Formats: sequence, C-alpha cells, structure tokens
Amino acid sequence: THEQQQAYFDANIAADTPIEAKDWMPDAYRQTLIRQIGQHAHSEVIGMLPEANWLTRAPSLRRKAILLAKIQDEAGHGLYLYSAAETLGCSRPDIYEKMLDGKMKYSSIFNYPTLNWADIGVIGWLVDGAAIVNQVALCRTSYAPYARAMVKICKEESFHQRQGYEAAMAMANGSAEQRAMLQDSINRFWWPALMMFGPTDSDSPNSAQSMVWKIKRHSNDELRQKFVDNTVPQLEALNMTVPDPDLKWDEASGHYRFGTINWDEFYQVIKGHGLCNHERVGAKRRAWEEGSWVREAAMAHAEKHAVKAA
Ligand code: ACO
Repeated sequence: THEQQQAYFDANIAADTPIEAKDWMPDAYRQTLIRQIGQHAHSEVIGMLPEANWLTRAPSLRRKAILLAKIQDEAGHGLYLYSAAETLGCSRPDIYEKMLDGKMKYSSIFNYPTLNWADIGVIGWLVDGAAIVNQVALCRTSYAPYARAMVKICKEESFHQRQGYEAAMAMANGSAEQRAMLQDSINRFWWPALMMFGPTDSDSPNSAQSMVWKIKRHSNDELRQKFVDNTVPQLEALNMTVPDPDLKWDEASGHYRFGTINWDEFYQVIKGHGLCNHERVGAKRRAWEEGSWVREAAMAHAEKHAVKAA
C-alpha cells in the first residue's frame, strides 16, 4: 500500500540508506531533486561561458591548456548531472528548454562578466571553491545517483580550485599592476561568491523539507560560513583584502564574522536582471538552435540501426 511504501522510504532516509532510481519515492522528493539537479546541471553548462571569454587571450600556452581542460570538465559535469536527473524520469530536452525559457534557474554567479585575466584565477579559487564546499556535502545526499556523480565532480572541482589559486598567487607575486588587477577581481567576485549558497536559512523556502529528506545535509548559512572560514586565510596569504569592512575573526565562536549580503542584488539576478543574464541565455539558445541538425542526425542514425537490428 501507499502507507507501506512511504514508511519504507522514511525508514531508509532515517537509516541513511541511499535511495536508488528504481526505489519508490514520494513525488515531491522526486520533483525537488529534478529541480535541484537540473539547476545544478544548467549551472555547469552556463558556467563555461564566462571562462570561455578568456580562452583566446590566455597569457601563455600553459594557462590556455589548463583553462581549456577546466572548461571541458564543466561540460562533463553538466552531462553527468543531466544523466542523474534523467534517472528521475524527466526528459533532458524538456528541462534544458525550461532553462532557456527562464522557467528553471541556474547559479546566480554566472551572470557576472569576466573583465580581466585575474577573473579566471579568481573564478577557479572563489567560485569553484564555493562550489566544492556545497558539493562535498552533496556527496552524502540521500539520492544515490546524485551522490555518486558528486564524488567524481568534487575531485575535478578541487583541481579547478587549485589551478585558480595558483593563477591568483602568480598575480599576487607579480607587478603592482597585476596586484591591482587581482584586487579588482576579488572586489567584484567576493559578494557574488557568498550569494552562491542561496538565501539565509530563514528565507530559504526549500531548506526545511530538503534537510528532512537529507537531500541537503547542511544549511545554506552553515555552508556559507564554512566557505568564509576556509577562504579568509587564503586571502591573507595573498596579502589581498575583501570589500567587507565588517569581516573579522571572532575568537569566541572560532569563525570569521562577515557583513550583510545585498539580498536585493541576489533576487534581481535570479529573476533574470543580472548584468549578463540575457547574454548567457542568448548564447545557449543560439547553440541549441544551431545544434539541432546534430540531434536530428543522431536520432536518424539510431532509428536506422534499430531497423537493421530488427
Ligand atoms: N543562484 C540561483 N538560484 C538560487 C541560488 C543561486 N545562487 N540560491 C538559491 N537559488 C534559488 C533556488 O533554486 C530556489 O529557487 P526555485 O525554488 O525556483 O528552484 C530559491 O532560490 C530559494 O532557495 P532555496 O530554498 O535555498 O533553494 P535550495 O534548497 O534548492 O538551495 C542551493 C539552493 C543551495 C543552491 C541548492 O539548490 C544546491 O545545493 N544546489 C546544487 C549546487 C549547485 O547548483 N551549484 C551550482 C553552482 S556551482 C557550479 O556549477 C560550478
């Protein structure tokens, strides 16, 4: 009966037994996962765009090879995550088109422009650094195909974070001009990186239920705090600052305290009014339309094969 299925699901969640694709699950759990995994996948593929902006202008062959590898990794993460979403019964073209139509979100962070080369280091260091804090927690999410995808993705993200910090370090040890460029980049990306973790816990409509289902293992504010605590010593090692006069070490709690996030900016960006929303979605729509012949050819090929096999 439905009650028995629900009780079995609840017992598995309570016992930390992962839920597999073929297991019974409440419809709302399935829909929440499609929303979150879909949004996560969209973020990976949109996230390729700000970095691609600097591919032809990388300062050396070594930097170009690293950047190219990183961007290809992001494409792979997107494909992994779309596959994980499909195990829940959604259609990949359907959720992709919802993103193009503004009916599904992707991370706010990718709606900011990349204005100088230091942005590439800072994205690896801060943006991928923030992504890892969130994604390490998701390695233990209750839905097994999502958790498994996260394990490989986290390994690659940690390479991305390291290459970013190394590029930032090279600039921090460089000329006054390079240091100024790095500081400018940190100033622009610091607050948007903190916004990646989502609204504060009290304003996060999905958190309570996602914590009960163990889709989320830590709250938005807990993960944001962890990111700040990880990052400030790295910032100090570079002799750089962040644009937050309220940032200070709090001995009593053992955490860095930070100022108030501009939530108005966050909500504007996720409603589609960020600096680059139109450009990002426009680029993806063009690629989707120009690639339609590839999808059609692949389908025609698959059909021919099926007929032959029959
Ligand atoms: N950018 C865009 N939308 C956001 C962001 C953000 N930084 N933070 C929250 N939101 C959206 C949520 O998706 C939700 O909208 P929806 O209900 O229309 O889907 C709304 O704001 C309210 O937020 P929450 O209730 O806190 O939503 P949720 O419980 O899903 O938590 C979080 C948000 C933490 C981002 C979660 O979805 C998550 O962990 N996602 C997986 C990680 C991810 O997507 N990373 C992408 C960036 S990293 C990278 O790609 C390199």
